[in-house]
Amino acid sequence: MSGPRLTLTAAGEDFDTAGAAAIAETIADAPTATVVVATGRTPMGAYGRLARDLPAGAGSALRVFQLDEYVGVPTDDPRSLAGWTRRSFVDPLAVDPHAVVWLDGLAEDREAACRAYDDAVAAAGGLDLAVLGLGPNGHLGFNEPPSDPSSRTREVALSKASLASNAGYAPGLDVPRSALTAGLDVLLAARRVVLLVSGRGKHEIVRRTLEGPVTADVPASFLQRHANLQVVVDRDAWQG
Ligand code: GLP
Repeated sequence: MSGPRLTLTAAGEDFDTAGAAAIAETIADAPTATVVVATGRTPMGAYGRLARDLPAGAGSALRVFQLDEYVGVPTDDPRSLAGWTRRSFVDPLAVDPHAVVWLDGLAEDREAACRAYDDAVAAAGGLDLAVLGLGPNGHLGFNEPPSDPSSRTREVALSKASLASNAGYAPGLDVPRSALTAGLDVLLAARRVVLLVSGRGKHEIVRRTLEGPVTADVPASFLQRHANLQVVVDRDAWQG
């Protein structure tokens, strides 16, 4: 393995531009690519930039998969990650929302919902691209530590670190205690991964992710073994 491709940028616009370019590369190669896309604060600028810079309709044939979802939150709730995925990526790129594979956090049988999601990933031939952010504790999606690389799509109890960092997403509303997440197994099997990391608060964890031991205690550290990883990181995160 040649190691990750590291794209180091200034904070702000440069970071967003580099993130958008990384995603656009896949779209240029394969307009019908299967992509899983993170929500969170980190990729929002890149998605906005991507929607502005792509020729109209260029992203509309992507096959999009939701990365994670809170349990028990309707899609029109401000906390819904489906709603956030739709507003930030699906609608701006004019992807047909009916063609998106959603994670159903309202399902009574959540195990069945997770199996349906994995079946849809398999039926699509796996993921071409995973666009991921980095949790403050090294989670990917909501694969909380400890998660081993064979972790499947499943319901997880959120860690204190995740509850705290996600509290700011919808101020004044409680963060749900559990969520569904795409499994590390399907994410690590993506043919290409773009990991976006910004801000001083991610300094220690991005270094542990890329330079520390590969361990279930830092689930993102398994990306060190990925054959096609691009990390777009701003100087605040990389240098601290
Ligand atoms: C959240 C989400 C992840 C996200 C990560 C980082 O909890 N589950 O999908 O990538 O944590 O979020 P942020 O970009 O807001 O720092």
